[in-house]
Amino acid sequence: MKKVLSGIQPSGQLTLGNYIGAIKSYVELQHTHECYFMVVDLHAITVPQEPEALKENSAAVAALYLAAGIDPAKANVYLQSHVPAHAELGWLMTTLSYMGELERMTQFKDKSAGKSSIGTGLFVYPALMAADILVYNTDLVPVGDDQKQHLELTRDLAQRFNQRFGELFTVPEPYIPQYGARIMSLDDASNKMSKSNPNAGSYIAMLDEPDVIRKKISRATTDSGREVRFDRPEKPEISNLMSILSACSGLTMQEIESKYEGQGYGAFKKDVAESVVSVLEPIQQRYRDIRRSGELEEVLRHGAEKAQQASSRVLRQVKEKMGFLV
Ligand code: TYM
Repeated sequence: MKKVLSGIQPSGQLTLGNYIGAIKSYVELQHTHECYFMVVDLHAITVPQEPEALKENSAAVAALYLAAGIDPAKANVYLQSHVPAHAELGWLMTTLSYMGELERMTQFKDKSAGKSSIGTGLFVYPALMAADILVYNTDLVPVGDDQKQHLELTRDLAQRFNQRFGELFTVPEPYIPQYGARIMSLDDASNKMSKSNPNAGSYIAMLDEPDVIRKKISRATTDSGREVRFDRPEKPEISNLMSILSACSGLTMQEIESKYEGQGYGAFKKDVAESVVSVLEPIQQRYRDIRRSGELEEVLRHGAEKAQQASSRVLRQVKEKMGFLV
């Protein structure tokens, strides 16, 4: 069975972008692949985190995975910090990576822009991400568009290792949805939807109340004109709402275009809101049940145990090849 790995940082509220760009693919892939879905708490601390908030956010991300439909009987769900092979291979990958290639990472450039002191963790972040992926010999990595560059670096590091020390790592492929890979901000479709945007109206949090979701979508910026047409350069705001509707309803872009032909934006936006509510509301109900039930601890313990077994095998091979006495 081919292997899938991915992860999300517990650094605040998850958004509809995280759901459509990543979690939705996780739920689909669990039926056909051996899956590892982590909460990447070691990545979250590359920017300062309040300890209590980190704990709460880590539990929240894991509970949202389950609430969204990841079945712990099918997929391994765990915290990155519970499986030491990640940090250990992370160091080995750091020693294989070059300053120049890490400096080119756009996420690093964005997160460090204008800061007078930049944490080294933020800089070596992609080497840890490469380790996350390579330590299971992962075949496929479901991510949104913004992680593509990190994945390319992962592939380079895998190939570099294989050339230097002998064939070992699988060179992983990204798995990126056709339309939902980059859900944009509701107030400005030139920015990615992100929880770090100070305007809460610009993003939909997975745990936003249904009425808040309705309000945010009704206030979303629209392009001039009244035609519902998928055309990213000409109609970026409408195309973004269409991507959301398509991901949440299963309708194709063509079906959406013909459904709203001649109707203007009003009916369309209402249906976008209802489709999002129809996806998120049941997730929110299950989320509350999961948090109340206390089942999370056992799921995470079991997931970490399985991940520990799989990762320690590969880590041992890596160390042997690199010349450590094992
Ligand atoms: P993170 O936590 O920033 O985001 C988690 C996932 O959500 C996707 N995403 C989006 N997709 C579409 N539209 C958006 N607006 C949007 N915002 C976020 C991201 O592309 C990502 O897939 N470095 C990773 C975490 C990570 C990881 C890994 C991922 C660590 N190790 C190993 C894959 C494999 C990150 O910061 O994602």
